[in-house]
Amino acid sequence: MRKLDNPSASRNCQPILNVLKNVLSKEKPLRLLEISSGTGQHSAYFSNEFPNITFQPSEYDTTDFESITAYAKDCKNQNVLKPIFIDISRDYKTWENKFDEESFDYMLNINMIHITPWRCTEGLFKNASHLLKKNGLLITYGPYAVNGILTPESNVNFNLSLKSRDPEWGVRDIRDLKELGNKYGIVFKDSTDMPANNKTLIWQKI
Ligand SMILES: C[S@@+](CC[C@H](N)C(=O)[O-])C[C@H]1O[C@@H](n2cnc3c(N)ncnc32)[C@H](O)[C@@H]1O
Repeated sequence: MRKLDNPSASRNCQPILNVLKNVLSKEKPLRLLEISSGTGQHSAYFSNEFPNITFQPSEYDTTDFESITAYAKDCKNQNVLKPIFIDISRDYKTWENKFDEESFDYMLNINMIHITPWRCTEGLFKNASHLLKKNGLLITYGPYAVNGILTPESNVNFNLSLKSRDPEWGVRDIRDLKELGNKYGIVFKDSTDMPANNKTLIWQKI
């Protein structure tokens, strides 16, 4: 089985883990659903630090399944499950893999929000409002604008290139995400500045 290497995932695994160490509990068995796992590097990397958490990777692009499975297989704690297909824009009740309400303590979504249509972001927050337990956390990572301002110039250019690839893509504003979250009972808790002008955002289901 072939492990794919996404250079940006290789670079951001450790900085994201540093944030997760302050946010995720190590105390009891917990469940985390990752949306858009890509190569599978993130869940695998984080699983080594959190033996108490069962990681459920997922992807829209099923050609990534082989790589996600290969990374999971080598995890020292064997706490990464087989990948499942999830189109996050669809309601969780229509997914092939059925989950009860409040099945997860955490949901994780890295570098998807800006590179998919807004309906995926809406689906992420809407589905999180059903699938997370009360007080459960949604963790998102990527580039974001803040109150209408996108910095630095490299992020402005990145946003233009995203929109030229697909007019429905684009860097989202945290202000708009807060409004969306409030609609679904997912409230903004914290933002951490990350390398390469990205941010890790922590959201909580109330
Ligand atoms: C830039 S990649 C990020 C992958 C991975 N999280 C990482 O950081 O390496 C964006 C991901 O969003 C996924 N994606 C696109 N449409 C989606 C959808 N409707 N539901 C869930 N994921 C989707 C793509 O398949 C792709 O893996």
